[in-house]
Amino acid sequence: MDFNTFSSRLIKWYASAKRDLPWREVPTPYKVWLSEVILQQTRVVQGLPYYLRFIEQFPTVTDLAAASEEQVLKLWQGLGYYSRAKNLHHTAKVIASEYGGVFPLTYKELIKLKGIGDYTASAIASICYEEPCAVVDGNVYRVLSRVFGIETPINSSEGVAQFKALATELLPSENIGTYNQAIMEFGAIQCTPQSPDCKSCIFKDHCAAYHSGKVAELPVKLKKLKIKNRYFNYLVWVDTSGKTLLQRRVSKDIWQGLYEFPLIETSHLAAEKELLQLLKESNIPFEGLILYNETPVIHKLTHQHIHTQFWIVRPLKPIDNAILISELHTYPVSALTANFIKKFWEL
Ligand code: ADE
Repeated sequence: MDFNTFSSRLIKWYASAKRDLPWREVPTPYKVWLSEVILQQTRVVQGLPYYLRFIEQFPTVTDLAAASEEQVLKLWQGLGYYSRAKNLHHTAKVIASEYGGVFPLTYKELIKLKGIGDYTASAIASICYEEPCAVVDGNVYRVLSRVFGIETPINSSEGVAQFKALATELLPSENIGTYNQAIMEFGAIQCTPQSPDCKSCIFKDHCAAYHSGKVAELPVKLKKLKIKNRYFNYLVWVDTSGKTLLQRRVSKDIWQGLYEFPLIETSHLAAEKELLQLLKESNIPFEGLILYNETPVIHKLTHQHIHTQFWIVRPLKPIDNAILISELHTYPVSALTANFIKKFWEL
């Protein structure tokens, strides 16, 4: 298909099919940045409430810069990949202090900022400044691999280069920001991962995958590395004054900066006896342990599965440094911990 036909059909489609989203009304760099960082984590439907809460609490990049990291993590809670939230906060502070609160005006300058990679810099530069930079996200990979019948794995270095080159060639000479949003929107709502409605598609007559019956097989993705299994034992201390213990994760591992119950990680699923043995040295005397979940909760991250057991522990005396259970909701925690808190205390 002629490249101009491809972009002009998409732009036309977008004008009538696009969703009304708040960052599209007046797309400022702050709004586009925030929305794209959130949308790298989740779909629009799930991401929208997060976006709205961020904009309400931090209407400008300077407001975000003035927040504490804990506030930012709390607002991010549930989206996962917390380094993204930390980078967002870090970069807001850099923009506030070193750029006078004004975003850099070019792709080349934007990409120097922490957490802003090729994708986010291209989105901001094209949508806000009409700079001819192609965005290539999961939606774009899907649309291009199908329409042009490209079978190179999208997570190979060859694939990354090939798709970026094609996406760049496809850029129209004008309305670049609109075009970039159109191709992403098209991937999100028309050329969907599962059972897209090809019969109503604007590319029905040209789509290579549709004609070869390969829609479901594209894009091709190489299998990920082996998943690591980890075994977490959370000690949920509950004392008689309605308090429990939380600690902050400090090590360079998942969920750095988030809070959780005291953790004992074991090399396999631990039995009560083993845990009692490990807790022998505990400086808080306790009555005993009760396993809350007979079946371990398996929390799945990209490269690891966390098999989790929650152990309820009753201390003999009220605990020092404990926090009120009614205050638990103010701490940023992982979805794994949040789900337990919700279920156990019905908070
Ligand atoms: N997914 C990620 N960014 C998007 C955008 N700007 N529009 C639609 N879907 C998206």
